[in-house]
Amino acid sequence: MSMQVKNNIYWVGKIDWELRKFHGDEYSTHKGSSYNSYLIKEQKVALIDTVWGPFAREYVKNLQQEIDLSQIDYVIACHSENDHSGALPELMRHIPEVPIYCTKNGAKILKGLYHQDWNFQVVKTGDKLSLGDKELIFVEAPMLHWPDSMFTYLTGEEVLFSNDAFGQHLASEFMFNDRVDQAELMQECLKYYANILTPFSPMVIRKIKEVLGFNLPLDMICTSHGIIWRDNPAQIVEKYLAWADNYQENQITILYDTMWNSTRLMAEEIAAGIRAADDQVTVKLYNLAKTDKNDAITEVFRSKAILVGSSTINNGILVAIAALLEEMKGLKFKNKKAGAFGSYGWSGEAVKQLSTRLADAGFEVVDEGVRVLWAPDADGARACREYGKTFAASV
Ligand code: FEO
Repeated sequence: MSMQVKNNIYWVGKIDWELRKFHGDEYSTHKGSSYNSYLIKEQKVALIDTVWGPFAREYVKNLQQEIDLSQIDYVIACHSENDHSGALPELMRHIPEVPIYCTKNGAKILKGLYHQDWNFQVVKTGDKLSLGDKELIFVEAPMLHWPDSMFTYLTGEEVLFSNDAFGQHLASEFMFNDRVDQAELMQECLKYYANILTPFSPMVIRKIKEVLGFNLPLDMICTSHGIIWRDNPAQIVEKYLAWADNYQENQITILYDTMWNSTRLMAEEIAAGIRAADDQVTVKLYNLAKTDKNDAITEVFRSKAILVGSSTINNGILVAIAALLEEMKGLKFKNKKAGAFGSYGWSGEAVKQLSTRLADAGFEVVDEGVRVLWAPDADGARACREYGKTFAASV
């Protein structure tokens, strides 16, 4: 399958309807994904990115339906990660002399991954490659999200090939942003930003401002995952600027794990207290042992504050909570407040440990949290509700 994107630009990628886990087990893809590769057939022919390795043969066979491979003049590798470079070995077997345009780091990583001495042509921001009447302009985008990442812009068509940036994991035969369910699309974009790009937010703002400074007209953004932005492509750029700027909604998210329901009961009483104190705030509860961690991270991203609860076990905290705290530490959330809670039977260290680890992960811990011995009785439930009220007032 291939599809015309605009004039001489064709999508030649792969929709992966089956994908449910990405980056190993790191990222859940409930809606599948796609690996977008683009063929530009001007006087010179350029191929932008490829697809993930398991689809390499299918990809090259499909590409051969679209063009005689010997007519490809340039391969552009915007990003070396395996989901976009995985078909390079199969492709380059057919066209070993064709130059591969990439950043300096891109060449290093591709050599490290595939151990091939391909004809690498290193490019920097502002370098141009003529396709005849139109040209490609390269813009390095280091750490968005790998050191090698770059954008490629096609003059004349006003199309930005942004690779991972502005993408989402969403398999759809409709391919364009104006043809898919808007709520589903934005949810997947937000999840993608929250789970992948959050730590790089300062660079996102800097890079977008830099690219806007070039004053390049923008008709379309062709990402490497999911749909193509052709209807008001600036909308996703504006979203990125908002998300990168310490984004938060009026939401408090309560994340917990529980052994015998005592910590769950605490969570629900705290939620009731928050609602009693503030009927405007959105309160959401998730048992992390039963919740997809990337969906939970997305809710943290939306939140102005979070509460994390765990029973005490073996002088520590439950493993689902520990895993989330580790993940959140790496994501470097900013400008979010937090509190901790949990039930215990004898030693009761969990709440203190949660507070410490939340602070380590960059959250502003607003108080000492609340503990309940064994199961909450009426007094325990009241204490949790009061805690919820106090917490709501302090955030
Ligand atoms: Fe879609 Fe960073 O690879």
